Amino acid sequence: MVKKRTCIFISGYGTNLKYLINNSRNQNFPIRISLVISNNKRAKGILYAKKNSIPYLVINTNKRNFENLILKELKKYKISLICLAGYMKIISKKFLNAYGKKIINIHPSLLPKFKGLNTFKRILKNKEKKTGCTVHFVNEKLDGGAKIIQKSFFINKNDNEETLKNKTQKLEHRAFSEAIVKIFRYN
Ligand code: GRF
Repeated sequence: MVKKRTCIFISGYGTNLKYLINNSRNQNFPIRISLVISNNKRAKGILYAKKNSIPYLVINTNKRNFENLILKELKKYKISLICLAGYMKIISKKFLNAYGKKIINIHPSLLPKFKGLNTFKRILKNKEKKTGCTVHFVNEKLDGGAKIIQKSFFINKNDNEETLKNKTQKLEHRAFSEAIVKIFRYN
């Protein structure tokens, strides 16, 4: 199997990146992680790239042409899949069109519910019975593309933002890899 060369975009802790790196070591897993891009030079996730000798780039998204810089690197590394793993920047329509290949994102809610930020606070306020995570294709709408996989759990009376985050992340770490296997199952 020829593994798809994949770039992971991060901004923070990179725990999803960590699990993707581990799973990509399995020879039957459809991707190899060829590049990590962070828009935050202090992102802890960069350490996982370093530890695993994966090339990484820190991109200053305040620069006017930052998306062109990213596109150039994606071409250089022959990237055919982008995974947004806690990347806190919206992908522009221009970028989506210019890249033209698959981009997927992980979001800590059962989309289409609770798009955007501060999900756990809003989930609790809304007294939801269930929550979870979603992996979806990225389109020009925020957290809006077609769903690939969703995982959920029931919320307890005692849950708070912290516990919801921990439970959701546990599911995310499995969901991201399962979504990748799912989208490449037939090609
Ligand atoms: C995840 O909860 C993801 O759903 C959201 O950002 C968080 C990233 O966590 N988009 P990490 O950096 O992978 O630990």
